[in-house]
Amino acid sequence: MSEPSNTLWHGRFESGPAEDLLAYTVSLPFDQRLFPDDIAGSRAHVRGLGRVGILGPDEVTAVLDALDQVEAELTGGSFAFVESDEDIHTAVERRVTELAGSAGAKIHTGRSRNDQVATDLRLWCKRELLAVAGDVLALQQVLLDRAEAAGDAYLPGYTHLQRAQPVLLAHHLLAHAWALARDVDRLLDARRRLDVSPLGAGALAGSSLPLDPPSVAEDLGFAGVFDNSLDAVSDRDFVAESLFAVTLVAIHLSRMGEEIVLWSSDEFGFVRLDDGYSTGSSMLPQKKNPDIAELARGKAGRVIGDLTGLLATLKGLPIAYNRDLQEDKEPLFDAVEQVRLALRATAGQYATLTMRTERMAEAADAPTAAATDLAEFLVRAGTPFRDAHAIVGALVRRSVDDGASLAELVTAHPDLGPDAAALIEPGVPVTMRTTHGGAGPAAVAAQLDRFRARLSTDRSRVQEA
Ligand code: ARG
Repeated sequence: MSEPSNTLWHGRFESGPAEDLLAYTVSLPFDQRLFPDDIAGSRAHVRGLGRVGILGPDEVTAVLDALDQVEAELTGGSFAFVESDEDIHTAVERRVTELAGSAGAKIHTGRSRNDQVATDLRLWCKRELLAVAGDVLALQQVLLDRAEAAGDAYLPGYTHLQRAQPVLLAHHLLAHAWALARDVDRLLDARRRLDVSPLGAGALAGSSLPLDPPSVAEDLGFAGVFDNSLDAVSDRDFVAESLFAVTLVAIHLSRMGEEIVLWSSDEFGFVRLDDGYSTGSSMLPQKKNPDIAELARGKAGRVIGDLTGLLATLKGLPIAYNRDLQEDKEPLFDAVEQVRLALRATAGQYATLTMRTERMAEAADAPTAAATDLAEFLVRAGTPFRDAHAIVGALVRRSVDDGASLAELVTAHPDLGPDAAALIEPGVPVTMRTTHGGAGPAAVAAQLDRFRARLSTDRSRVQEA
């Protein structure tokens, strides 16, 4: 047993915490990363205490100076943690009190670790969600660059992983980029909703002291202040929302990863990975493995676990603070860290891979991939689509069963003929997709313009947030 005087609550206790309790309840190893936010929150709290006269001007200065020094020690790595520092809040307060004496002992006036930790974590989310959004934008830029460079290259579009209709490679790459645009929007949206200060809620009920939470919220740069002290300290919706936004990024990266795994296989052969972004085998000399893509897929499982774990922690918690809530941090930190690593590695992988456009075209040029264009040729001449579908389907069946050339069958057909046969020439079908948002060159050129505009708007939104 250690001395009770080491704890924040020693007045009520005759003996100190058991080793096993400390070992089990300590959060310092993972909440240390909150120190910039803990110091920012403490500065604003102390200035607030000064404004309402609870701390005199000299005391405010003494505590702010001590906080500067604590910040320097933590930043420079010279901060000496002691065994009783169970979390970052305890450690900062202890050191401030060592440095500023009795003024330091006033830092926690009107504050609880319950409103303090909620404040710290919201500040952390505000910063980190922007960082994630910045990494998403960087990957989108890579996809845009590759889409612009892809020109008129095309590949099969797939449904059920069966070749369906040819699409421009640029169109395919932009499909991922638009999904990521929703992620940027979602990250910013979650950030906007969590931009509310809980500081001043105290342990759960506010304070008998004349605190002014709205002015502290403003000082901290929050867009708003809590309305209900119980809700303020028990709310972790913002962690769940942040985790969901980040998890959906992970899922998008996982789907992109699965595609690269397929595309880099000999069977597809659509891309060749750069040496810097693939790995070899310890035993099989010929191997070049898509490990980034596979880990993007694999780690998505772990990140989904982070989200569902947090939701399970929250379910059934009585209002307001419960120590269970300490379990909010590790999944959040883990998910954000993993997704940021995945975003950067995926961007590098896409920036450096070689697109084997001749292989893509070869796979897309099977005349059967143009079957819909033949049916639509008949539709333009007045045939009901269902009948047109049946006519073309029968021709495809004959060409598959008898090995007959589809082009010859089409040319010989009374309702189709040479004009229709021209539609299934290599490279032609993709040009037929002309409608808004479609896969052909003219539609994709317009889409590229829209995407460039969206990316630049989103970049400004992230910069200005
Ligand atoms: N380390 C705790 C957490 O992360 C801080 C709050 C502790 N509050 C308390 N009443 N024990 O949630």
